Amino acid sequence: MNNFLKGQIALVTGGTKGIGKAIADKLNDAGARIIVTARTEPEENPNGYYFIAADLSQPESAETIAKEILEKFGRIDIVVNNAGANLSKGGSFSTLTDEHWNNDLQLNLMSAVRVNKALLPTMIDQQSGVIVNISTYAALQPIWEMTVTYSAAKAALNAYSKALANEVSSKGIRVNTVSPGVVKTPLMEEFIEGIAKSSNITVDEAFKSMLNKVGVPLGRMAEPEEIANLVRFLASSEAQYITGSNYLIDGGVSPVV
Ligand SMILES: NC(=O)c1ccc[n+]([C@@H]2O[C@H](COP(=O)([O-])OP(=O)(O)OC[C@H]3O[C@@H](n4cnc5c(N)ncnc54)[C@H](OP(=O)(O)O)[C@@H]3O)[C@@H](O)[C@H]2O)c1
Repeated sequence: MNNFLKGQIALVTGGTKGIGKAIADKLNDAGARIIVTARTEPEENPNGYYFIAADLSQPESAETIAKEILEKFGRIDIVVNNAGANLSKGGSFSTLTDEHWNNDLQLNLMSAVRVNKALLPTMIDQQSGVIVNISTYAALQPIWEMTVTYSAAKAALNAYSKALANEVSSKGIRVNTVSPGVVKTPLMEEFIEGIAKSSNITVDEAFKSMLNKVGVPLGRMAEPEEIANLVRFLASSEAQYITGSNYLIDGGVSPVV
């Protein structure tokens, strides 16, 4: 891989596992200097990524992250808002409390809103920058039994990303959204184990029922690296005319064109 991102400073929130780790590795392969955040520092860090511990469901975390990045690196070129999770409680609308709604909105919407707000003034000064917000196909196709608050929070992230792109693209900053389908990550494994337990079926049965329920034309989950390839492309100058877009990468799941 040539060094087409050499000299660029890239932040990947939730960059220690799953999709975020794959994105960090792909941007690193392309020569960027990588900063990752998570609540827990990974035991191994073979590529020497700069690590910042932060719980992004907490409002003050974004400012802490931005301050540390700007003090240490003095600039920011690529921001990938990847930290997120389906915190939806399964069940009917009637069982969802304000707290359930707030938890998903904080982690899946407000984390990105706050990180971007803290780092955008620097990108505007630089007159350059790329933001990629990681959403989900489920924002377009909510599953009422298992993703209501998560889907709604990510749908809001999509709308916010479009508005932000409209606002800052003339300042040299591109903003796009990537919406994966079902991806083989620790989060997904945990989710499937949860379904198996609550439905009293095996993990294998839960896995098959998940693929059936979602209906993946390609017949399998995505690998995290397949999502990361798209993010790396969007971060590169090859994507310099792309802003305000939402890319579904879901193995054909979405039934609409
Ligand atoms: N997997 C899928 O099928 C799928 C599909 C569509 C969209 N997505 C989206 O893709 C993104 C990554 O998902 P993933 O499956 O790769 O998840 P994952 O395997 O659980 O990894 C999540 C990463 O985010 C960090 N994280 C989780 N909660 C956090 C918090 N409160 N504050 C800060 N960091 C936090 C985790 O580290 P710590 O636990 O140490 O904090 C980890 O580094 C999410 O936004 C998710 O909604 C995933």
